[in-house]
Amino acid sequence: MDEHEFARSLLAHERKEWQDPEKIISQIDVRKGISVADLACGPGFFIVPLARVVGKGGRIYAVDKSQVMLEYLKSNMQRSKTDPEIVKIIESDVSKTPIPSASCDLVLFANILHDLDDQKEFLAEVRRISKPSATIVDIDWKDTDNGFGPPLEIRMAEEKARKILERNGLTCVASLDPGPYHYGLIMKLQKDLK
Ligand SMILES: C[S@@+](CC[C@H](N)C(=O)[O-])C[C@H]1O[C@@H](n2cnc3c(N)ncnc32)[C@H](O)[C@@H]1O
Repeated sequence: MDEHEFARSLLAHERKEWQDPEKIISQIDVRKGISVADLACGPGFFIVPLARVVGKGGRIYAVDKSQVMLEYLKSNMQRSKTDPEIVKIIESDVSKTPIPSASCDLVLFANILHDLDDQKEFLAEVRRISKPSATIVDIDWKDTDNGFGPPLEIRMAEEKARKILERNGLTCVASLDPGPYHYGLIMKLQKDLK
């Protein structure tokens, strides 16, 4: 699959049948006016519904290293009439963003942790941009064969993700339901590591 096809598949209507972004967002502490980072946002599956909730006065940092994905994000925002003032689009590696330190109330990363070579560096960046009270959310593929999605050998089991997250300054405080093929972890910063 080339990147264009991949971007379209991430926004495909069928995805919403098994992963409803609004239902996911309703399980997280998202409020009007908050600051959110969506790290590796792709074409914006979560950005559009997040922008509806944070509204004017809120801020969403939409970070992805792929120009193609960010072009799809722009079209997605135009189609859905998302206010461009709410969403700051950032072409960057997720581990070295220009997001100000301690500025985000919510940091979301979906379908990316399993794919990163340096998870330690990435999670240091997550801690850097998080406010002390921030909520941090990891959504990723379960390591069971469901017939589509990333190959089993590159997926990361929930238990392994929990260990990596806990070793890197985050505490899992709850789970969320992101649909049948994924797990979702809700975290807070470990204060002594901040
Ligand atoms: C599987 S897609 C997930 C997109 C989105 N989070 C979602 O769930 O719809 C992974 C995205 O991560 C981006 N990506 C991969 N490695 C990255 C990195 N090191 N820095 C920034 N973006 C990255 C890719 O360009 C792609 O858009």
